[in-house]
Amino acid sequence: METRDLEFLIGKNIIDKYRSDAGRPSVFEWVGREWNLLDEVWPPSYSPGGELFADLIPFGEMSSFLEMGCGVGIMSVLAALAGCPSVLALDINPAAVENTMLNAARHGVAARITARESDLYSAVKPGERFDGIYWNPPFLDAPPDALDSSIWHETMFDPEYAKLRRFLREGRELLAPDGRIYLWFGEAFGNPTLIRDLAAETDLDLNVLKDLQLSAVPEALADAFPAFMLDAAQSTEWHLHLLELKAR
Ligand SMILES: C[S@@+](CC[C@H](N)C(=O)[O-])C[C@H]1O[C@@H](n2cnc3c(N)ncnc32)[C@H](O)[C@@H]1O
Repeated sequence: METRDLEFLIGKNIIDKYRSDAGRPSVFEWVGREWNLLDEVWPPSYSPGGELFADLIPFGEMSSFLEMGCGVGIMSVLAALAGCPSVLALDINPAAVENTMLNAARHGVAARITARESDLYSAVKPGERFDGIYWNPPFLDAPPDALDSSIWHETMFDPEYAKLRRFLREGRELLAPDGRIYLWFGEAFGNPTLIRDLAAETDLDLNVLKDLQLSAVPEALADAFPAFMLDAAQSTEWHLHLLELKAR
């Protein structure tokens, strides 16, 4: 089986699990706070995400921050709470836009956050620039003809990492002077030099802020692996990274 077919299979299992989980809460606790979770929005508490290391991002020094693919909006809320006065949260999923504003209100920072439905940067207005741009992107490659336009396929898959390429290339042009792009990404499968290659392609310098090493598949993901792969996956060291990218 080709790697991208396997990634599709694993992604499909994760989607089925996340959607059918009877224990999927409407309010959950994460990074020491409570968050609303709407149906059809990516649930961050199932696997480690960049918000666990939000203190490594200097939100308090930023006058503007953009969170791409905001989901429930945790990073947007943390940025606003840390002192960033202007946060733009974007997601292709309209439920994520609503979810982010619910959490902005829950934490008293709705005045600092604007959320817009957007395909990558399509809803950024002319002249808007950002000191920081962050994304925890769809992390699996997949054969394009296996995908549909459902929000869960958009959330989980990025065939040939075309979205990630555009995120970096177009984001670079939206940075304020000395601005940075932050990315949460794990090369669990496929191409281990992907991010370095993409950074070089887009003329960005790469700095690893956090290298989270897991000695086994995160528990919440383990049953997404086909049985024949699980032993090998469990004995592989997993690396998840919070990356900082800066224009050369
Ligand atoms: C892995 S989830 C991460 C969600 C959230 N940021 C978090 O860390 O919990 C990826 C997010 O990217 C969004 N997304 C996928 N494709 C997108 C696109 N073309 N434009 C904007 N958002 C997109 C998805 O809807 C989803 O909310």
